[in-house]
Amino acid sequence: MEPVRINGATLRTAIALALLAAAGVAWPAAPAGDSGKDINGVCAACHGEFGQGGKRGEYPRLAGQRAAYLKDQLKSFRARKRINIPMYPYTQERELSDEDIDSVSEYLAAIQLPTKWPEFKDSDDALTRLEAVEKVMIVPRAEGDIGNGKNIYQKECFSCHARDGRGRGKFPMLVGQYTSYLKKQADSYLKGERPHDEEGTTGILNKLKEQDILDILAYLTSIQDPERAEGK
Ligand code: HEC
Ligand code: HEC
Repeated sequence: MEPVRINGATLRTAIALALLAAAGVAWPAAPAGDSGKDINGVCAACHGEFGQGGKRGEYPRLAGQRAAYLKDQLKSFRARKRINIPMYPYTQERELSDEDIDSVSEYLAAIQLPTKWPEFKDSDDALTRLEAVEKVMIVPRAEGDIGNGKNIYQKECFSCHARDGRGRGKFPMLVGQYTSYLKKQADSYLKGERPHDEEGTTGILNKLKEQDILDILAYLTSIQDPERAEGK
């Protein structure tokens, strides 16, 4: 049998992990102040390496989302104000400090995912091509009346989510987010399970017909290319 060769660094990591496991730490908690990229390694299992999300929106996209919004949501998961069972173990105090929340949010907010397929040069190798393709984020067109969606969006939603749907400050970006995820959130706002910008079920979404919401979601999938976004 081949002897197992372990260098010093591997051995130290192995011991550190064993100690963490023995102490009941669920994941190798990044020490306070560790870079957002390191912390994102844990999030990547569900949200993807580039924060692109996954499983057709079961895991939402985080890349390019507003940093202030990401921080808000992480704090609200941690305080269990917004219920998110799969993420519960990852947001508890000892695992995700305020400092970690800041750095992972800033890291994710700064990731730009292209909305077009890349054009390659003959000299680009397979790995370069694969990495570029993996980052492309194009949400499939959703069905609906885009004209009606646009009218309502540009009247009722733009003041917070911005004309181009990319949000501002604490108001989240909606463009480039999976339609199924947005629909699920709209449904939970309608039922009053998650507060939108107002408490209860008296908000703007409750004043719309179900088809209007679907039309807005269709409109959002039609303005993903920033060069073609209207009203910028
Ligand atoms: C085990 C899977 C899993 C892991 C690991 C995970 N998440 Fe999530 N996350 C989810 C799911 C599922 C949702 C969607 C919840 C819903 O449908 O309301 C979510 C939602 C979110 C949201 C809300 C997005 C929005 O647009 O409202 C943020 C922010 C977020 N996650 C950040 C993180 C960060 C940062 C990490 C790493 C520290 C992480 N997540 C790790 C499963 C996971
Ligand atoms: C007065 C400001 C305001 C207006 C107007 C507004 N929103 Fe929002 N919206 C918010 C805020 C704040 C949040 C984040 C809520 C939270 O913290 O959970 C949000 C979140 C959302 C989300 C969930 C995003 C995510 O990633 O989870 C959807 C979907 C949404 N809004 C749709 C709409 C639509 C459609 C309209 C127009 C009909 C609209 N909003 C109008 C403030 C607003």
